Amino acid sequence: MLNVALPKGRLGEKVYAMFESAGYECPSIKENNRKLIFENPDKQVRYFWVKPSDVAIYVERGAADIGVAGKDILLEYSPDVYELLDLNLGKCRMAVAAPVDFEDDGQKTLKVATKFTNIAAKYYASIGREIDIIKLNGSIEIAPILKLSDVIVDIVETGTTLKENNLEVKSTIVPISARLISNKSSFKFKGTDIEKIVESIKNQVNNND
Ligand code: PRP
Repeated sequence: MLNVALPKGRLGEKVYAMFESAGYECPSIKENNRKLIFENPDKQVRYFWVKPSDVAIYVERGAADIGVAGKDILLEYSPDVYELLDLNLGKCRMAVAAPVDFEDDGQKTLKVATKFTNIAAKYYASIGREIDIIKLNGSIEIAPILKLSDVIVDIVETGTTLKENNLEVKSTIVPISARLISNKSSFKFKGTDIEKIVESIKNQVNNND
């Protein structure tokens, strides 16, 4: 049985649809209930829904053989997993944003609010800018409005949240999308099964282009 961790939510539903079209369907997953684990013994596959930011933990520790995680999480936490495939789903970008009229004069330490402290620290180290990181857990856009920070580092998808809060992207750090990841020892011991899934999913990714 191959254990697959799927990110709960809209992205996860698209991801499951991809697995389904690739020939790894599990009809019980579509029943409307609060169950979190579903399996199809015929296809030797077991799916479970986890919080998107937890997928990499399940895979890294081997509770799941494979899973789908955002590149943002992989960059932020650097889990010890293999990244097998870009699914071309959940596309967005990690960006620096600030109030429209904000200009960094480069003089004093820049206050940066973010959920992604490692990505932010690495980015500013790479451009040699001294920063003070303020770790938040959500609604990051409020921070510069209330002068808690000068800028934010956050995910931008449509740009609507920024626009509605009078903020704009000042620079893009990295493009983000969903990635298929594998536990390292699963890849060794269930390699043939995993490769087979990767090949079938790859065709789905290409079909999406
Ligand atoms: C994310 C992100 C932005 C928003 C960007 O928040 O942190 O707030 O989506 O999307 P947009 O560019 O399409 O407006 P999420 O909904 O994940 O909630 P959060 O506030 O907990 O981060």
